[in-house]
Amino acid sequence: MLTITPMPTLHVSGCDLHFNDVGRGPGAVVLLHAFPLHGGMWAAQVEALSRHHRVVVPDYRGLGQSTPAPAASTMALLAEDVLALLAHLRVERAAVAGLSMGGYLALEVWRQAPGLVRGLALCDTRAGADTAEGAAGREAFARSALEQGLGWVADAMIPKLLKPDPDPAVVRQVRHLVNGGTPAGVAAAQRGMALRPDSTATLATVTCPTLVVVGQEDALTPPAEAEKLAAGVKGAALVRLPGAGHLSNLEAPAPFTAALESFLGGLPA
Ligand code: MLT
Repeated sequence: MLTITPMPTLHVSGCDLHFNDVGRGPGAVVLLHAFPLHGGMWAAQVEALSRHHRVVVPDYRGLGQSTPAPAASTMALLAEDVLALLAHLRVERAAVAGLSMGGYLALEVWRQAPGLVRGLALCDTRAGADTAEGAAGREAFARSALEQGLGWVADAMIPKLLKPDPDPAVVRQVRHLVNGGTPAGVAAAQRGMALRPDSTATLATVTCPTLVVVGQEDALTPPAEAEKLAAGVKGAALVRLPGAGHLSNLEAPAPFTAALESFLGGLPA
């Protein structure tokens, strides 16, 4: 059984960055969370993976326990945080697994430090940037989050994050995770995602082993997006998870973890 200890903090560029660092093994893996959640969404994966791997899980600025929120949580800023954290922990090589916003960030980590990345897992995510309409929608969401708070954020996001007719226990879990953030952090994440670059051209530069995972019922980043991702990275494997929506690690935890574990097990340290 995993022992839960208070998450440590690293002070980096004006932010107290909370993170989890558990397990030991020949290789490290960093788990990058989805919006508008925090590193706690990876609890099931941390418990399983930390038996054989070192697992590092940050909360992004303004989400979870990392404070304060910046004006915009750009992928460039969050990737600098991840790299500062890994340097602090003396992790020189790591697999990087990100779900949705975490996938946007994983591709930015690859751009900033390809030599550090020993494998990439891109889960329920996409390579493309926002359309002008999508970016405007994020700004409207950011304003509503600031005005109406996290209860509104959870109500607005849960139908998009989970499959139709979701498990009520998972709905409660996601609501709890959303409540772990701050409205300012939610707004900053939306504004940061709106500014993210198009990563389509980056895919062709990826030379490390790559796994793409998607929930078959993911409505936000549907299987067609996963197919595009997998086709864009030479040699990438694609795993589809039946019975899961966008947050496939929460809706299909056992097959998600098995897919990630098998991928990590095949990587050189
Ligand atoms: C996420 O799950 O991280 C977000 O929904 C991604 C997004 O809004 O593009």
